[in-house]
Amino acid sequence: MSIKKSEKNIYAVILAGGSGTRMNSPTPKQFLMLGGLPVFIHSVKKLLSDKRIKELWIGANGDWFELAKSQLAEFVGDNGRVRLCEGGADREATMLNTLNAIRSNNVIGDGDIVLIHDAVRPFVTARIINDVINEMDYCDACNTVVPVNDTIVKSSDGRIIDGMPPRKELFAGQSPQGFKINKLFGAFEALNDEERKLLTETTKVCFLNGIDIHIVKGEFFNFKITTPYDLRVAESIISFAEENG
Ligand code: CTP
Repeated sequence: MSIKKSEKNIYAVILAGGSGTRMNSPTPKQFLMLGGLPVFIHSVKKLLSDKRIKELWIGANGDWFELAKSQLAEFVGDNGRVRLCEGGADREATMLNTLNAIRSNNVIGDGDIVLIHDAVRPFVTARIINDVINEMDYCDACNTVVPVNDTIVKSSDGRIIDGMPPRKELFAGQSPQGFKINKLFGAFEALNDEERKLLTETTKVCFLNGIDIHIVKGEFFNFKITTPYDLRVAESIISFAEENG
């Protein structure tokens, strides 16, 4: 006898509120052009191509909100599933703002999920998106990861190595990350102020609340564009794909 999976509404968030200081560009990296499209539009199109996604929310900040709006109008056009809202002071704040916007505009059931994706990972694939959505049938939170190739060493003073964790147990986190929306809100609300200040990663919120976080296989090319070097690598990937069909 087959077990029918519970219905779930699927939302997606694109975090586009960063300032990209390490890119050293006056315009934040998510709005720079890459292969004829702004970086974040690549991410938007990838997520929109999964028709199960009911709404796609983009968090963008202050001065750049209008640019995000005009780039969406130019490169995506009328699309009933796309919404834009204000970002926040850091990644987690942008995520919370967009999640609050989703919650204000929809009635969220316990099975409903959200995929959170960095605007600056333009090479996310349909396979990764599908795997995250499917994995959410079996967990309350999941993260896309790749194994680390280098040996990772730990040094608390930046001078002397004081730890060498076994490489086969180490993975680098990417996005999208998947969450049951109500569980994620519950986890945020359970944190005290001190814990909130220390958070750099959404999945850590779940970790601190004892939620099992599953892992989904990412891809090395699903990297985050952070520096000018990364943008050049991204351009080479696009040119290679164009030249080789
Ligand atoms: N992000 C966001 N809101 C913020 C900060 C970051 O939505 N206030 C998003 C970025 O737009 C990006 C993702 O989170 O898609 C990862 O951010 P990251 O590259 O680490 O940070 P940036 O602030 O963009 O860059 P930098 O750290 O170099 O300043």
